[in-house]
Amino acid sequence: MSEARLHRNTGLDMVRATEAAAISAARWMGLGQRDEADRAASAEMLRALDKLEMDGRIVLGEDSRVDGPPELHAGRPVGTGRGIAVDVVIDPIDGRRLLAQGRAGAVSVAAVATRGSMWSPSPAAYMEKLVVNRAAAAALVPECLDAPAAWTLALIARAKGKAVRDLTVFLLDRPRHHDLLDEIRAAGARVVLADDGDISGAVLAATPDGPVDLLIGVGGAAEGVIAACAVKALGGEMLARLAPQSPEERASLAEAGVETRRILSCADMVAGDQIFFVATGITSGLLLAGVSFAHDRASTNSLILRCETRTRRSMHADHLITAV
Ligand code: FBP
Repeated sequence: MSEARLHRNTGLDMVRATEAAAISAARWMGLGQRDEADRAASAEMLRALDKLEMDGRIVLGEDSRVDGPPELHAGRPVGTGRGIAVDVVIDPIDGRRLLAQGRAGAVSVAAVATRGSMWSPSPAAYMEKLVVNRAAAAALVPECLDAPAAWTLALIARAKGKAVRDLTVFLLDRPRHHDLLDEIRAAGARVVLADDGDISGAVLAATPDGPVDLLIGVGGAAEGVIAACAVKALGGEMLARLAPQSPEERASLAEAGVETRRILSCADMVAGDQIFFVATGITSGLLLAGVSFAHDRASTNSLILRCETRTRRSMHADHLITAV
């Protein structure tokens, strides 16, 4: 049976949802109200998604890592219910703390793929990730997940024709990455130590000629699957493995019979090429400029990726706010 095909304008439709969420979220910038912002952005995103001509189903909502809005649960239908059956993953705000503190790099993201093509890591909360762009894709071998960082960096440097000291590595600033950070620094690579937002980090690492050569470290599992959609659409590669961070998470994975040693590639997390990824900046960061407001207008900056054609579109939009 041939794979159902998504309309070529699906990304242009989906981006309305991340734009709406980003505009709503941006009003909460720096106000210290993370959960209120999340609820507002989620409601806007779902409202926009429900206008789209699709028979969508949320595969991954907010994971157990965050106490997110209950309406973002897995299995929630999205779209009008007419049209092609699709899997949808959304993160109305990736970087909720960044937004609440008015810091750089909060984005709103969503991805869609034909029904049944996305893997669900539920009930996992955390995942180890490695992401590179297509120039280094062949260098990313499963051994990289257990090898010293210096070994992986040397492989990537060779594949890219660069010195290790010219590589830039993105990782989250977390105590769990203390030793990893020491290893990267000892190897001599440059580092982007981010407070939050490893979906953006993955997109930056997978972008051809992007400013990041490698995303490494443990982050959200749901964020990993969303990132895989972007990485695949950019032609990069990603390796991942579940990484439970607490005895409770380990126990719930064991109870659900989830295999935690399996190493997953991008293709294991999202199959086929009928995949779109969209992102809109909320606060300005390395990936996207944030929302700006003036009178009755809001300006947004978005990225739209289509896997089948590897098209990478940047979109600036100016919205009459009442019309969003
Ligand atoms: P939220 O905006 O949902 O809080 O996620 C931010 C984030 O930095 C993700 O990008 C990342 O995958 C995850 O948190 C890491 O989890 P933790 O903050 O628990 O280390």
